[in-house]
Amino acid sequence: MTRIPHETSGEPNPLQALTLDRLRRRTSMKWRTYPADVLPVWVAEMDVPLAEPVVRAVTDALGLGDTGYPAGTAYAEALAAFAEKRWDWDGLAVERTAIVPDVMLGVVEMLKLVTGSGHAVVVNSPVYPPFYDFVGHMDRCVVEAPLGVDGRIDPEALEETFRQSVAGGRRAAYLLCSPHNPTGTVHTAAELSAVAELAERYGVRVVADEIHAPVVIDGADFVPYLSVPGAERGLSLMSASKGWNLAGLKAALAIAGPGAAADLARMPEEVGHGPSHVGIIAHTAALRDGGAWLDALLSGLDANRRLLADLLAEHLPGVRYRPGDATYLAWLDCRALGLGDDPADAFLHRGRVALNSGLPFGTGGAGHARLNLATSREVITEAVRRMTAALD
Ligand SMILES: Cc1ncc(COP(=O)(O)O)c(C=O)c1O
Repeated sequence: MTRIPHETSGEPNPLQALTLDRLRRRTSMKWRTYPADVLPVWVAEMDVPLAEPVVRAVTDALGLGDTGYPAGTAYAEALAAFAEKRWDWDGLAVERTAIVPDVMLGVVEMLKLVTGSGHAVVVNSPVYPPFYDFVGHMDRCVVEAPLGVDGRIDPEALEETFRQSVAGGRRAAYLLCSPHNPTGTVHTAAELSAVAELAERYGVRVVADEIHAPVVIDGADFVPYLSVPGAERGLSLMSASKGWNLAGLKAALAIAGPGAAADLARMPEEVGHGPSHVGIIAHTAALRDGGAWLDALLSGLDANRRLLADLLAEHLPGVRYRPGDATYLAWLDCRALGLGDDPADAFLHRGRVALNSGLPFGTGGAGHARLNLATSREVITEAVRRMTAALD
């Protein structure tokens, strides 16, 4: 791996760059869902200024009036180069990619390509809530294969759900979250190879949501699903949107393994109408030139994980927190606090701090809450203070 260790990037920590007053001027979901006296540490938006190469690329596009329709393969080429540098993976073939509006709409389109109405889509609960909403909305049936108590994929549970899902000759898909939201689990090459083997054995098609792949700590290796043996018929969705906070600049990439190229080729042309040209410019710049900024972010997140663990140990020892190796989300087991199934509700109403409720994450979510670590040390400290106050 040629990856540069975080510490050498020389960039300042972007998580310490913005004041709360400035953040409160934002109009996005994180800042406008709750009243101003609530501290928001919920939805996956980061409290960072944008990476300078992204600002420059978007500003140049706006200056030029380059705001038409997208063309070309620069986004896929930038991702392929990033994948080679960061993950040692040279298997991302630009000709087997398609630009989609965002990861979730890409997930929906990929699932439509490989399953039919009423078919099963297997997920590892607890998992990102839109996996339930979007899949349910498209007339597929979500089937849970819960993670093990160690927060990792449980091969026996997965095999059993695969067996049930394809019974009677039905088609089925497995919507893999890699790295996993909310636990931050980074699946190993051995785990992913076992998934590929099982999927092939049962004829289940794998769609891997790899949106959090850039946000993996130094020392843990992200393994692209399509890089493991047996994953040739897999499909993946990747994006710069989590790593560089670009959710409002719509774009993502669908990537097919060699055995899924024909499926991807069937994706209707109108899907390509959704991504924003300016979004694609931003994502491309992030992947191509935003490495140092990302490294500085990852260092800041490492520090925030440790800070949260220390604060919880001191002030809320009843909360169980196992820092994950990826994402900027902390999955908190609050069952020992006596706040019932929805501790986030108590934190919000009694502590005026907004975390995500664990309930919409499916089986395994009750008694849990998710906290967004992509913020300053001061906000994390204040969030824990408010959570503690909610217990009084
Ligand atoms: C696992 C996962 N997939 C998809 C998304 C949403 O991505 P997009 O905005 O590109 O649809 C998120 C956002 O947090 C996520 O955590």
